[in-house]
Amino acid sequence: MAEVTTSAASAATALATGHVAALPTETVYGLGANIEYPEAIARVFDIKERPSDHPLIVHVAPGADLHHWVSQIPATAATLVEAFWPGPLTLVLTKNDRVPVSVTGGQNTVALRSPNNPQFLAVLDQLSELTGTPAAIAAPSANLFGQVSPTTAEHVQQGLGSRLTSADVILDGGPCTIGIESTIVLCREQDVVLLRPGGVTKDELANIVTIALSEDKPASQATDQPRVSGTLESHYSPTAQVMVVESANEATHLLTGQAIDSSSIGIIALVSDEIELGTATELARPNDLNAYAAQLYAALRKADDLGLNTVVAVLPPNTGVGVAIRDRLQRAAN
Ligand code: TXA
Ligand code: MG
Repeated sequence: MAEVTTSAASAATALATGHVAALPTETVYGLGANIEYPEAIARVFDIKERPSDHPLIVHVAPGADLHHWVSQIPATAATLVEAFWPGPLTLVLTKNDRVPVSVTGGQNTVALRSPNNPQFLAVLDQLSELTGTPAAIAAPSANLFGQVSPTTAEHVQQGLGSRLTSADVILDGGPCTIGIESTIVLCREQDVVLLRPGGVTKDELANIVTIALSEDKPASQATDQPRVSGTLESHYSPTAQVMVVESANEATHLLTGQAIDSSSIGIIALVSDEIELGTATELARPNDLNAYAAQLYAALRKADDLGLNTVVAVLPPNTGVGVAIRDRLQRAAN
């Protein structure tokens, strides 16, 4: 059992000595290892039961010199770092020899992000002081592979606590403010390829860089496709069956129909969706897209805590962060 703490120093010490630390970010909690420790990286894969060819995101300080980990910095990457770091945007770049292939799933690219969370940033600062080199923390979401990402320290403790040792640490930073994972882009000189929708929206990106149409991908990439585990068809799944519908009417139809017992159903929908609930349980009734993202994963977990059979989620509009919410719900439903 790991210690749950609010001390960034404890987390930095654990990482500096080759242990793992679950860390809060603005998106979801990550299960972190210092990339200098191959055994710690291996433990992260073990603890999560993650296949070893699924690469990890490496978290660095917002002002760090990326040349430390990357062989070349395309113009798009410099622009995006300037605009969005620290923040929920992950950049895939060509790695150099300091980044072990165990972190990148054998690929020659590395995914880098600077999380916008004061405790995580304090851990990065303190870790680089302790080790005397720029800190780089590999951290996938702190959940078992394929399950719902954690947005509180308690979720991490429930899901992974028994797999952590007393030298590992869970840093409690309260609930994640954004609540769904970062946007991932592959950076090229002239444009970027959107690999996973997330906390930074397509419009926000398109304001400052060119986004390649997916058909635009060069032939080289068709064979050397970056692997993005968050894009597996089934992912982010609770035990309860997730059903997605496009409208409040469809949800009402399901709940009031004869086909299912509505008392075993939980509902996730914007508060503006007028639904006849019957005996169904409200899991989350967010009042806008940001609240929807922030509440989504806790709501899916709550369905399991309550022993519900089914979650009916009314998909939000396909705009802004709604794109990422729909992506996660559709994968949870798969
Ligand atoms: O918001 C987030 O991104 C959170 C927090 C903890 O930072 N992390 C996260 O990690 O979602 P994870 O492991 O659940 O998802 C990382 C994603 C995977 O889909 C992985 O395939 C992709 O990043 N990824 C990592 N390295 C990559 C690379 N070199 N090329 C393409 N995709 C990569
Ligand atoms: Mg994940």
